[in-house]
Amino acid sequence: MRQQFVAGNWKMHGSLAGNAALLGEVLAGVGSARCEVAVCVPFPYLFQVQQLLQASQVAVGAQDCSVHASGAHTGEVAVSMLQEFGCRYVIVGHSERRADHHESDVLVAAKAQRVLEAGMTPIVCVGETLQEREAGQTAAVVLRQLQAVTHLLGEQTARIVLAYEPVWAIGTGRTASAQQAQEVHTLLREHLRAVSAAAADVRILYGGSVKPDNAQALFAQPDIDGGLIGGASLKAADFLAIIAAAR
Ligand code: 13P
Repeated sequence: MRQQFVAGNWKMHGSLAGNAALLGEVLAGVGSARCEVAVCVPFPYLFQVQQLLQASQVAVGAQDCSVHASGAHTGEVAVSMLQEFGCRYVIVGHSERRADHHESDVLVAAKAQRVLEAGMTPIVCVGETLQEREAGQTAAVVLRQLQAVTHLLGEQTARIVLAYEPVWAIGTGRTASAQQAQEVHTLLREHLRAVSAAAADVRILYGGSVKPDNAQALFAQPDIDGGLIGGASLKAADFLAIIAAAR
């Protein structure tokens, strides 16, 4: 039985005062959560958030990492650094990074491998654009993105978390229906099953305009194991309601 997982992705939001207030409210309400909970925060706030979440059930995560271990890579952040700040999770391959920074499938896979080597869990994002969906390419795109990862990781694939985030549903208020999401999750699950029995049990999160009023229907699907939450993770009441909707 896979434990469901709700992770917030704060993206480029936050402030020292705002983070303390948000996490104070989240911690006050998260006690009865059945699912695992994490927040993936901007790099400069990792130290603060690590302190605030110490000894709590909410894990700390980052939103990206360098593919390099160390060296002359100005502006990059190494997995060893994230590990020092208590990160348990690192998002890799978010569509915003694939689009804004031209991250390729191969680069994303290599980042996932780095994260695993450092003893953390990559949350690997896949998802199609609206144009790709309308051209009937959804399956081909998400499987191509996932295959790059499973090809490199092999048996280690069992140690990742996967997130299906249709690009057209991110920050648009337009969610994939529970059935649309489940359809893609089924495809992803089949590919994982072909890798190994252990990989078949990888948690597959759904992300893209998850809100308190649609979370329950999404999380009730057999192959949706929780959510990667953007905007709604910035409001304690919404984030807590989504956490409460997890099985
Ligand atoms: P929204 O929940 O704001 O649509 O963002 C989803 C997302 O990209 C999470 O990584």
